[in-house]
Amino acid sequence: MTSNATPILQVRDLAVSYGHIEAVKGIDLALNEGEITALVGANGAGKSTALLAISGLLKPARGQVLFNQQDRQQDLTRLSPHKIVQSGVVQVAEGRATLTTLSIAENLALGAYTRKDKAQVAQDLDWVYSLFPVLQRRRDGLAGNLSGGEQQMLAIARALMAKPRVLLLDEPSMGLAPLLVQEIFRIVQEINRTGLTILLVEQNVRQALRIAQRGYVLETGKIVLADSGSNLLHNPKVLEAYLGG
Ligand SMILES: Nc1ncnc2c1ncn2[C@@H]1O[C@H](COP(=O)(O)OP(=O)(O)OP(=O)(O)O)[C@@H](O)[C@H]1O
Ligand SMILES: [Mg+2]
Repeated sequence: MTSNATPILQVRDLAVSYGHIEAVKGIDLALNEGEITALVGANGAGKSTALLAISGLLKPARGQVLFNQQDRQQDLTRLSPHKIVQSGVVQVAEGRATLTTLSIAENLALGAYTRKDKAQVAQDLDWVYSLFPVLQRRRDGLAGNLSGGEQQMLAIARALMAKPRVLLLDEPSMGLAPLLVQEIFRIVQEINRTGLTILLVEQNVRQALRIAQRGYVLETGKIVLADSGSNLLHNPKVLEAYLGG
């Protein structure tokens, strides 16, 4: 599929190693602005490793992560994780990673900690609470008392409070009951409708490709397929390997 959308983020020849094991072996990705891009693949394919390198939490062995801002292009592999968040690329980690001994409201305030547009922060807090009403109801409660699914929501909400231009989501539906999985996918779409670009890593391949404009299939550290989400959904190789035939 050809697209006339402009890439906001381009990953070029990204390789990441753990010691002498190369987990990501020179991948190329392009995220079009305002789109959901899915990155799918089996356990151990290198999905999380790729995200961690994009967000600067792992240092790549080679390659570039080119982020297009209004007037310039920056290679994120040259920036610290903190600067990458500030520039607008924010990852929601796999698992929960909320601060369990702080309240929900405190977790959300921390998400906005580096922002300078404080007036806008209050507005974004209202938006985030409208996306996740359960967080608003329990705003003064400890994050540690939330259920797994609610903590996952808090992790996404906290990332949104950083006002990202690109959101990196690592398996947001992992470990959730089927109804909550539906809810998370609905919310991811709703977030995307505000214009936010999303890179969505998922093992729930069917659901991810349904909501993604574009998708990549990663196998043992290499991209083996890149196409529109709908083409991938009907691709015999994807059907066989990830969608149970
Ligand atoms: N900290 C680490 N040290 C050494 N090897 C690692 C480390 N983290 C991941 N690996 C290895 O790198 C490869 C890619 O792992 P990664 O976690 O990126 O895969 P993934 O696609 O996210 O898998 P999953 O679907 O299970 O989350 C795997 O072979 C994994 O065992
Ligand atoms: Mg992973």
